[in-house]
Amino acid sequence: MTILVTGGTGYIGSHTVVELHKLGQDVVILDNLSNSKLIVLDRIEQISGKRPLFIEADIRDAAALDSVFSEHDIKAVIHFAGLKAVGESVAEPLRYYDNNVAGSLRLLEAMSKAKVKNVIFSSSATVYGSPERLPIDEDCALRTTNPYGANKLQIEQMMGDLCVSDADWSVVALRYFNPVGAHESGLIGEDPKGIPNNLMPFITQVASGLRAELSVFGDDYDTPDGSGVRDYIHVVDLALGHVKALGLFTKAIGFNPINLGTGNGYSVLEMVKSFERVNEIKIPFNISPRRPGDIASCYAQPNKALTMMDWQASKGLDQMMKDAWHWQSNNPNGYE
Ligand code: NAD
Ligand code: UFG
Repeated sequence: MTILVTGGTGYIGSHTVVELHKLGQDVVILDNLSNSKLIVLDRIEQISGKRPLFIEADIRDAAALDSVFSEHDIKAVIHFAGLKAVGESVAEPLRYYDNNVAGSLRLLEAMSKAKVKNVIFSSSATVYGSPERLPIDEDCALRTTNPYGANKLQIEQMMGDLCVSDADWSVVALRYFNPVGAHESGLIGEDPKGIPNNLMPFITQVASGLRAELSVFGDDYDTPDGSGVRDYIHVVDLALGHVKALGLFTKAIGFNPINLGTGNGYSVLEMVKSFERVNEIKIPFNISPRRPGDIASCYAQPNKALTMMDWQASKGLDQMMKDAWHWQSNNPNGYE
């Protein structure tokens, strides 16, 4: 039995494939390489001793999906494939709805046809919008503020409706908080194109001299030091959350949304200080205006993941900082 991993050459997907290999699980990756590179397959093999089967295809290509399901004995799908830049989704909404929502629809249709009814979906804390309460539990109101968030919510709804229509479906929607860090080998990690949107890759690029200084977006939020607070989670902990979620298919049918976070919130300024202390590198920064659309604080109530699938994050902030820098310093230009 094999797991189909869409988007498996990407940042979170590649770390998850490594953890699946460690358990002896066979994997087929399907990815269109729109935001990843083939060399990731070599790196996965270097770490895990096993090369995943790879199919270069788009999740919107129904014929390609049908042939994957007919040629391989797929028992479940982990669905990472998607576009993920919030700003880009505002500028190019139709591209996002097509790739993310229509793509997920095609995938679910192909799964339905092949009678593969187990799926883990990469959702996001973005579905809570400006959160109703803190820490954020899975019953908080769902609302989104941009097309990317709307895509995630629509895909969740589509999956929920499918579960209502057919009790054989089991869907685990993992709502990630802020994934950071890299595999401890320094062989795989986050490889953003152009100027990073996210905090952690920006910090590591300042550390390596690629960028002059970090802009801290706002120091006047209602938080202890005025900068934004987030729940940063080590990408390997996140990958292990997917492995645990596979175990849910035998005991939890229907639609199950589950937060993957640590439950701890750290501010931008705390992140900078922590990086400086752990790696002994100064990060020059300036205080800039707030970034439009940002919220003050976002951190998880992670208890449901513990109760339902015996998962909790084990890697702390120091490990995230160390591994993020190890990856960046070994690969100053990413996978280039
Ligand atoms: P990533 O861009 O590194 O990986 C996504 C992969 O999907 C890439 O390899 C890309 O080539 C592939 N892909 C995109 N569209 C495709 C399509 N139409 N057909 C086939 N392959 C396609 O991103 P990531 O950080 O690994 O994120 C994985 C998933 O997790 C995404 O769905 C993302 O929205 C979600 N997520 C990410 C974060 C985060 O901060 N990284 C937070 C919450 C949720
Ligand atoms: N920040 C800076 N400077 C930067 C980049 C970010 O100060 O150069 C700040 C932001 O203002 C925010 C914090 O660092 O306070 C984290 O920002 P990120 O962009 O790293 O992460 P976000 O929480 O804004 O967004 C992430 C994902 C989204 C997802 C969201 C909610 O990138 O895809 O979490 O899950 F929707």
